Amino acid sequence: MRPKIAAGNWKMNGTAAALAELNALGPVVPASGTTVIICPPAPLLFRAVDLAGPLNIAIGAQDCHAEPKGAFTGDISAGMIADCGASHVIVGHSERRDRYSETNANVRQKAEQAWRAGLTPIICLGESLDVREAGTTLDIIATQLSGSLPDDVTATNTVVAYEPIWAIGTGKVPTLEQIIEVHDFIRAQLTSRFGAETAQMIPLLYGGSVKADNAATIFSAENVDGALVGGASLKASDFGPIVTALAAS
Ligand code: PGA
Repeated sequence: MRPKIAAGNWKMNGTAAALAELNALGPVVPASGTTVIICPPAPLLFRAVDLAGPLNIAIGAQDCHAEPKGAFTGDISAGMIADCGASHVIVGHSERRDRYSETNANVRQKAEQAWRAGLTPIICLGESLDVREAGTTLDIIATQLSGSLPDDVTATNTVVAYEPIWAIGTGKVPTLEQIIEVHDFIRAQLTSRFGAETAQMIPLLYGGSVKADNAATIFSAENVDGALVGGASLKASDFGPIVTALAAS
């Protein structure tokens, strides 16, 4: 059985007061079988870890640097994130790839840094609207997968998130058939590169406008093992039903 994961990416939203949402989320977090991860802004990591531990919620960061330390003003290393007590880090989110020109090679290095620090990277990929309309989605996904995933992926050290860029924050969701096509393709690519035993265990998350009312449908796809949620993760009242739908899937 693959792990089920509901991950919330708060992006650049929330101050310490927002951490009250963790307490509100606590009662719907399943005791076992479903992992809930919240990725708050970096300044909240320490406090979030303290609060989230007893609630069975894992804490992740939204990015890390590709180097372990050095003269990189404003950046944060994977080791610093681990030092805060976090367990996961998102790497290669499309907002980083697009706005900070992060390449597949950068993302791969970040994933390696995450492992070195003892973190699990959530490696994101996904096509733009232009690519989707040109019919080359699977080609781009294959390129991103081969370039962004290091060779040392194991059955338990990595999470992959498929996030079509045109679905992020837009309210537009791919059809279930489109989600199934890409997730099945990713599983097949992972199988040919890492072998079936490893590939079968890697959690594949869908991300992009996941809400309480579409979550159950998305989770019905065999190769969707959870979600990476932006907007609907900010409030426990929105995220809780997504967690519940995942646990029931
Ligand atoms: P969204 O964001 O749920 O607000 O579309 C998803 C993401 O960027 O991870």
